[in-house]
Formats: sequence, C-alpha cells, structure tokens
Amino acid sequence: MSFAIFLLWLVTVPFCVHSHQTEPPQGFTLSCGDADDRMLGVQKFVPDTDFISVGNATALKTPDLLSILSTLRFFPEKSARKYCYTFPVIKGKKYLVKTIYYYGEFDGGEKPPVFDQIIDGTKWCTVNTTEDYAKGLSSYYEIFVAAAGHCLSVCVARTQNTISHPFISAIEVQPLDHSVYNATDFTKYALSTVERSNFGDKTGNMIGFPDDKFDRLWHPFEDNNHIVDSHHNVSSEDFWNMPPLKAFTSSITTSLPRKSLEIMWPPVSLPSSKYYIALYFQDDRSPGPHSWRVFDVVVNGEAFYKGLTVTTKGVTVYGCEQPLFGQTNITLIPKGDVGPVISAGEILQVLPLGGITLPADVVALENLAKAFNNTPSDWKGDPCLPSQNSWTGVACSNDNPARVVNLNLTCMELSGILSESVANLTALQNLWLGGNKIYGSIPNMRSLKKLQTLHLENNQLTGKIPRWLSQLGELHELFLQNNNLDGRVPDALKKKNGLYIQVSPGNRFAES
Ligand SMILES: *[C@@H]1O[C@H](CO)[C@@H](O)[C@H](O)[C@H]1NC(C)=O
Ligand SMILES: *[C@@H]1O[C@H](CO)[C@@H](O)[C@H](O)[C@H]1NC(C)=O
Ligand SMILES: *[C@@H]1O[C@H](CO)[C@@H](O)[C@H](O)[C@H]1NC(C)=O
Ligand SMILES: *[C@@H]1O[C@H](CO)[C@@H](O)[C@H](O)[C@H]1NC(C)=O
Ligand SMILES: *[C@@H]1O[C@H](CO)[C@@H](O)[C@H](O)[C@H]1NC(C)=O
Ligand SMILES: *[C@@H]1O[C@H](CO)[C@@H](O)[C@H](O)[C@H]1NC(C)=O
Ligand SMILES: *[C@@H]1O[C@H](CO)[C@@H](O)[C@H](O)[C@H]1NC(C)=O
Repeated sequence: MSFAIFLLWLVTVPFCVHSHQTEPPQGFTLSCGDADDRMLGVQKFVPDTDFISVGNATALKTPDLLSILSTLRFFPEKSARKYCYTFPVIKGKKYLVKTIYYYGEFDGGEKPPVFDQIIDGTKWCTVNTTEDYAKGLSSYYEIFVAAAGHCLSVCVARTQNTISHPFISAIEVQPLDHSVYNATDFTKYALSTVERSNFGDKTGNMIGFPDDKFDRLWHPFEDNNHIVDSHHNVSSEDFWNMPPLKAFTSSITTSLPRKSLEIMWPPVSLPSSKYYIALYFQDDRSPGPHSWRVFDVVVNGEAFYKGLTVTTKGVTVYGCEQPLFGQTNITLIPKGDVGPVISAGEILQVLPLGGITLPADVVALENLAKAFNNTPSDWKGDPCLPSQNSWTGVACSNDNPARVVNLNLTCMELSGILSESVANLTALQNLWLGGNKIYGSIPNMRSLKKLQTLHLENNQLTGKIPRWLSQLGELHELFLQNNNLDGRVPDALKKKNGLYIQVSPGNRFAES
C-alpha cells in the first residue's frame, strides 16, 4: 500500500523565539545524531542516543543552520529491515509524533534519499524531501496516534527506491489531551497531518509551541480574499481540539456582505482517501447583540454544515471521515446580511492502522533477545508489522494480532542461551537456530504444539535431549548434531513416526 506524500514546510529559521515562558509539554524532543542539548525557543532538544541503538551520527558542513538541523543520524546497514526509535509511553494515551528531515548532502550526494516512515506496526508514509530540499527548506511530517502498548516505535526503512541511506534530523513525541480529535477511533486509525492553516495571517509566521500547547504547527494562509482582525479574544478551551488563540487574531472574509466566500484549500491536490477536517470560526466584531453570522459550509459543492451560527466566542465544525480527492474547495454561503468569515482549519488524513503483533509474542521475543548476544539490529519496534518490515529472521501469520510462526536465526553469530520464554511463542512452526554459539541446555518447549521443524545443530548446547520432544505431534524434523549433548537419545523419539532426526556427529551420547 502506498500512502500520500505530505510534505509540510519548515524553513531554515522555522521557530520564532517566544517571549513568555510556559512549561514545555512532558514529551520527548530529540536532536538526532547530536552530542549536546539544543534550545529552540523555549524547547529543549536532547541527544537521541537513549532512544535508538543503530545508525551513525554525523554533522552537516553547511554553516549557520538551525541548531537541530545541523546534525543527523543516518542508517548505512543495508540488511536491516527498519531502524527504530522507541519511546516509553502511556498505553491508550494520544500522542503527536513529528519527524523532521534536512538532508544537507550528508552522504556527499546531491539528492535526498527517499524512504519509508513506520509507526508501530503501520506504514505511515514515504519520506521524499526532494522538492523542499531543492527550495532550501527542511521538511516535517506529523501524525496523531494512540499508544497501543507501553512503548511507541517510530522507524524509518529502506524501500526499493532508496539510494544512499535513510536519515533523520529531529523527532518529537508529545502527549495530547484526551479530548483532542476525540471523534476519531484511535484504536483503528491514526491521523496524519496534511495542512493546518491560520487564515488571513499577515505576519508570515508559523504558530507553534507555546501558543499551541501541543506544538502543532499552524501555517499562514493568505489568498485574494479580504482579511479582518478580531476585536475580541477567544478562549482556547471553548473550541474542540484547542486551537491556539493566536489563530483567531485575523480571519478571511468577503468584500461584500452577501457574497459567498470561496477558498481553494488545502492548496495541495489530495490523493483519494478519507480525511478529518476541522474548521474554526469566530465573528471578528466586538461582542454585541448583533455580532453573529450565519452561513452554510460547503466542501466541494456538498453541504458540510448547514446554517452555522458563528458568534464572537467562536465555534468549530468538523467531519471525521470526509472522502476527498484532488483539489478541494470550501465555500461559505451567507444566510443573512453579514458575510461569512473563517479563522483556521486543519485537514488530516485518516490512516487505518496496520494491526499489532500479539503482545505475548513480543514479550517472548524480547526476552529471547535479552538472553542472546548480537541479535539483529532491527529487533526494535513491532516484530511482525508492517509485514515487509518484520524483524530479521521473524515470519508471522496474517492474523490481527499477528503471531510469530517462523524464527530463523541460522548462522547469525549469536551467542548466549536459548531463553525459556521461547515456550511462549505458541504459534511457532519452525525454529531454526543452527550455526551459532548458543550454550546451556534445551529449554522446555512442550507448549509449542505446532512446531514442525527444530534446528539447533552446530551450537554449544549441553545436557540431555528432552523426552517431551517425542510428544510434539507436528514435529517432523529435528537437527541436534554438533553440540555437546550427552545422555541417551530417548527411545520414544527414535521410534516417532515420520520424524527425521539427526543427532550425530558431534555429541557425546551413551550407547543404548
Ligand atoms: C557507521 O558506523 C560504524 C560503526 O561505528 C562504522 O563501522 C561504519 O564505517 C560507519 N559507516 C559509515 C557509512 O560511516
Ligand atoms: C520524490 O519527489 C520528487 C519531486 O517531487 C519526484 O520527482 C521523485 O520522483 C520522488 N521520488 C520518489 C522515489 O518517489
Ligand atoms: C470530545 O471532547 C469534547 C470537549 O472538547 C467534549 O465536549 C466531547 O464530549 C468529547 N467527545 C467524546 C466522544 O469524548
Ligand atoms: C487580547 O489579548 C491580548 C493579550 O492577552 C491583549 O493585548 C489584547 O488587548 C486583547 N485584545 C482584545 C480585543 O481584548
Ligand atoms: C469547487 O468544487 C466543486 C466540486 O468539486 C466544483 O464543481 C467547483 O468548480 C470548484 N470551484 C472552484 C473554484 O474550483
Ligand atoms: C533459515 O535460514 C537459512 C539460512 O538463511 C535457510 O537456508 C533456511 O532455508 C531457512 N529455513 C526456513 C525454515 O526458512
Ligand atoms: C510466558 O507467559 C506467561 C504469561 O504471559 C508468563 O507468566 C511467563 O512468565 C512467560 N514465561 C517466560 C519463560 O517468559
């Protein structure tokens, strides 16, 4: 599946320095590949090393870059199926995730590499910063997700189009209030930002933290329509989704009172999908007995909200699953003598989640990894999903939740012991760990009722061949040669119908 490319802009001096201090949200703000903390306005970006264990850090040679863009982390290891950051989060809580990219020719090339972004088990989108980079801009992507577990992973991954190395400049994970975008079912969907506009802004500045307490970015939007300044301050809490108050300081309206207001928004052509749209309105006039406006809201010629009453206090209208395609327009048709007005808007793509791996399987694999040294570097994030980005050596069922059915780490230079937690991978059909330096005894795996092939040959296993192996009904291939096993080969195993068993050479069995 391919999702839309949504490049939101970020200039080389993107964040304004704010005068009044507010506590930053208790999230994570990382400057990737950096060795030092960086301040950006009132936000502190810290080095990323506590959240990722792969990739190489580098600094760009371009002088005078915004501090968080001046370093990056890139991922040269070609065989890895993804490169993941993991964040400790609160299960079920909603988060904003923002990834920031500035290529800076770190690899000595001229064009930014194109690669994928993944969030937990879901492909988020393709990262293509070519156009922005050519304009001298950095790029960012933003998504809203609910944490499915206690850990949220944000990964980049190669595709067949990736030349050079995937990279990342900065990353933000911010907790959101429960009420924000609450009409969307976050157990099934994520919302990926397409456009967030502050209509009628004349300053040319983006609004972000601390004006927006979640650090959502609101871009100035100006067209040929008239601009009016608000004469009344609103309260953010009065609006669904808590837009920043600054977004209401100016609005766009019509030149004549009875005229419809038409805006071509968002300015980008949309790929066919479902979208969440929220529009924010406020009557800009001083509060009084007549300061309200009534108009219809029409999206692409179809009624979105009929007879909307907009007062000086303001109002939000939204649609959760609006199907859209191509250039979109919004028309506001007055129902009285006063013209329509609009202050701000957001459009987010509704992204179906790709599913999860059964948590018990994830825990079992994590415990397995802890007991081994040298597990593959891509053993972070979701083990099974997206399916083309499962962990090296892990193959899964297509169920939701997905189950681990094959584990194949043949000749991966593993050492350490085979953890007892392997017994919890109860959907496992093939377990191949041959050609490593695994020592210790064979753990109890009698719960693996579906196991068909078990390859533990060419390791340093000790102890006896367990009797329960003969009770695994599906088992038809057992390789144990070239270990340091002793005792006897259980009779039941030798007699088991349809089992191909190889136990020698290289063990020290007593003659029976
Ligand atoms: C990345 O880092 C590794 C380990 O430090 C090093 O061996 C490798 O040469 C580096 N790769 C590149 C492309 O710089
Ligand atoms: C990346 O974007 C550029 C400019 O929009 C486009 O020409 C190019 O084909 C894209 N690359 C890929 C691999 O999609
Ligand atoms: C969503 O939040 C708003 C407050 O912003 C609240 O009035 C509404 O009841 C909430 N809806 C749901 C479905 O939780
Ligand atoms: C709105 O609030 C700002 C700062 O809080 C204040 O300077 C301004 O005068 C207020 N505007 C109105 C119209 O009350
Ligand atoms: C607005 O959208 C409608 C429906 O897609 C279309 O018929 C109309 O021409 C559009 N208006 C403009 C100015 O593009
Ligand atoms: C496991 O991996 C080895 C080496 O890559 C390969 O030869 C073997 O066929 C694989 N086994 C299974 C069951 O996929
Ligand atoms: C297997 O899973 C169960 C239940 O989730 C857990 O109590 C047990 O500790 C796990 N066993 C191992 C060896 O990890």
